[in-house]
Amino acid sequence: MLVGAQWGDEGKGKVTDFLAEKADYIVRYQGGTNAGHTVVVGDRKFMLHLIPSGILYPDKVCVIGNGVALDLEMLVNEIEGLEREGIDTSNLRISSRAHLLMPYHKKFDELQEQGCRQLGTTKRGIGPAYGDKIERVGFRMTDVLDDDFPARLETVVKEKNRILERLYDQPPYDCRDILDRLRACVDRLRDYVTDTSLLVNRALDQGKKVMLEGAQGTLLDIDHGTYPYVTSSHPTAGGACVGSGIGPTRVSRVVGVVKAYTTRVGEGPFPTELTDATGDFIRERGAEFGTTTGRPRRCGWLDAVILRYAARVNGLTDLAITKIDVLDEFERIKICVGYKRGNTMLEEFPESLKVLQDCEPVYIEMDGWKTSLQNCRTYEELPEATRRYIEKITELTGVPHCLVAVGPGRGQTIVTREVFA
Ligand code: IMP
Repeated sequence: MLVGAQWGDEGKGKVTDFLAEKADYIVRYQGGTNAGHTVVVGDRKFMLHLIPSGILYPDKVCVIGNGVALDLEMLVNEIEGLEREGIDTSNLRISSRAHLLMPYHKKFDELQEQGCRQLGTTKRGIGPAYGDKIERVGFRMTDVLDDDFPARLETVVKEKNRILERLYDQPPYDCRDILDRLRACVDRLRDYVTDTSLLVNRALDQGKKVMLEGAQGTLLDIDHGTYPYVTSSHPTAGGACVGSGIGPTRVSRVVGVVKAYTTRVGEGPFPTELTDATGDFIRERGAEFGTTTGRPRRCGWLDAVILRYAARVNGLTDLAITKIDVLDEFERIKICVGYKRGNTMLEEFPESLKVLQDCEPVYIEMDGWKTSLQNCRTYEELPEATRRYIEKITELTGVPHCLVAVGPGRGQTIVTREVFA
């Protein structure tokens, strides 16, 4: 399992792509087109939103699990975009249980962001789509193929239209148009659709190596994140089981992807945020602009309180540390080791946003390395100060590292502990 240990954008796409070389199956288990995973292969850069990052290897089976919110038109676009680049997508499989993200979900996301719920979402319809799933008025991939689908769709669209017209003063949706658009996509995607829980469990039975790829991160989890400033799914390890249809007894390693500093997009508290020139410097050097929305990301120092929390709620066995080269030019680097609220020290990540907002980070400072790491290929080649920084992260979290990324390319990855035995 590969999970984001912070607020998303930790570099999961790159780590998945790297680890995928030794995997047989790569499974996306939650989120939707709110995710943007960047993978750099040679001089080519790919942006993936729904399709697992393993798709760039021709021999891997890539699975979109039941926990993903599926925007079918976006998926068709993504497949066609990859095919235009000469990437074969015939090894893609889509869960027949995955819920569909409908055109009206995007509309509601946009309208709610202007109204009672200003979270800074990606406006990709994620909250409304998962909301309908939980309300039991959603539609799964398999439902579209049922005879009674047009009638069920009509009932739901009628109700959505009433809300749109009466509450938001918006034009209604034409049910026929939605149906035609869905059917065109389903016709295009039909061959990919299957019971992916069965597929993945059978693969495990045969001794295949399966990797579960999370989107977003621990602090965006609907239960364990900084609610309500979260996404509407479970990016954490528990969500990986639910969203892929495998049991926890089948999981051997849980790798938390940790960026060497912290970023956040959208609203919500962020204790180590730097709103000064240092934050701007990290943003520019780390190209911290949203893959999906282009929004500038808020940047700050590494927060070990968050990482300890992520280690706990995910049961992390490993850390994959990314973008450490972004810190190359700093004389001194800070790590937050605790929070101070008034005269009280907090060792654990608080559940109340009010408390979190009041917290002041308590930092330790470490020497920077003031040299480029981009060409380092082994752990021993890393400067001593870099190794001290990495070991400090392990010491503060109690979780060993398995991988350190020193640049965006596949080759710029140092393995410190094999993930696939
Ligand atoms: P939503 O997932 O579009 O509903 O957005 C909810 C919150 O999660 C917002 O603060 C988004 O910026 C954030 N978010 C959603 N997806 C990602 C992601 O892939 N990376 C980072 N933040 C994300």
